Amino acid sequence: MTLPIIIDTDPGQDDAVAIMLALASPEIEVLGLTTVAGNVPVHLTSMNALKVCELAGRQEIPVFAGAARPLVRSPVTAEEVHGRTGLDGPILPVPKMPLQTTYAVDFIVDTLMARPAGTVTVCTLGPLTNLGLALLREPRIATRIRQIVTMGGGYFEQGNITPSAEFNIYVDPHAARLVLESGAPITLIPLDCTHQLLTTKARVSQFKKMQNLAGPAIADMLEFFERYDEAKYGPDDAPLHDPSVIAWLLEPTLFEGKLVNVSIECESQLTMGATVIDWWRVTGRPHNAMVIGSANAEGFFKLLSTRIARLP
Ligand code: BDR
Ligand code: CA
Repeated sequence: MTLPIIIDTDPGQDDAVAIMLALASPEIEVLGLTTVAGNVPVHLTSMNALKVCELAGRQEIPVFAGAARPLVRSPVTAEEVHGRTGLDGPILPVPKMPLQTTYAVDFIVDTLMARPAGTVTVCTLGPLTNLGLALLREPRIATRIRQIVTMGGGYFEQGNITPSAEFNIYVDPHAARLVLESGAPITLIPLDCTHQLLTTKARVSQFKKMQNLAGPAIADMLEFFERYDEAKYGPDDAPLHDPSVIAWLLEPTLFEGKLVNVSIECESQLTMGATVIDWWRVTGRPHNAMVIGSANAEGFFKLLSTRIARLP
């Protein structure tokens, strides 16, 4: 039995690695990729999603373009991290496979309504705009989703785009609030976890020496991405965020977390997009998410490199 998933994404080098990990894993069936404005505008994240499918030799995966801007706030992008294209690093060919004509939000709703309840997992690797819009269009999807697995937020590690907010939540806090208040089962993988998953030179060289196309392309992506993160966090300390979502589905024992309440700050200009995570359960607010606090980094990179080595 494979696990059917939708990957909602804003590639992004770390999104690309997450997508490739999913496409390399026989336990997972990728029903489609839905793209969103985030790291770069949506026409570029869509183009990058197509490039990644072709790099993985999976031209048959449908890719649907989604929201071009957040629900309420103005768009925020991160070219300074990911480069002008959002996927700077390797030179990848212009994709031959087409983008689907269906809007990503419709694909999410239609898939969740058509498939048996409790079977489809939605993985989000970018701002939560598409899922927020899907919940507004068809609130019944909340009870049909098997689970939502989201890379976003931070508690002890706070933020990476502002002192108190992580990028994916900061870009569309209103959508994040809709998702967290939807009642659907959610696993949230915040910076507290991803800041333990560091792309050291030794780990990048594992990808560089692979005898396929995907491994060296990933090394080029990580080396590009690292330039910014190393200036920020220090040498050998660049975190790899989004693949944790797929790794958690494949090997949950690599991770530890707690069921707690997560609320999203949408009002304060100072702390906009902060994830108020009740880690010590002091508020009495009901839990609405499994928040992952730590990961086994060695196990994670072993899983990732073993799977990526299987790709063309
Ligand atoms: C998140 O922000 C993006 O830049 C990355 O792709 C990741 O999803 C980390 O804060
Ligand atoms: Ca991302």
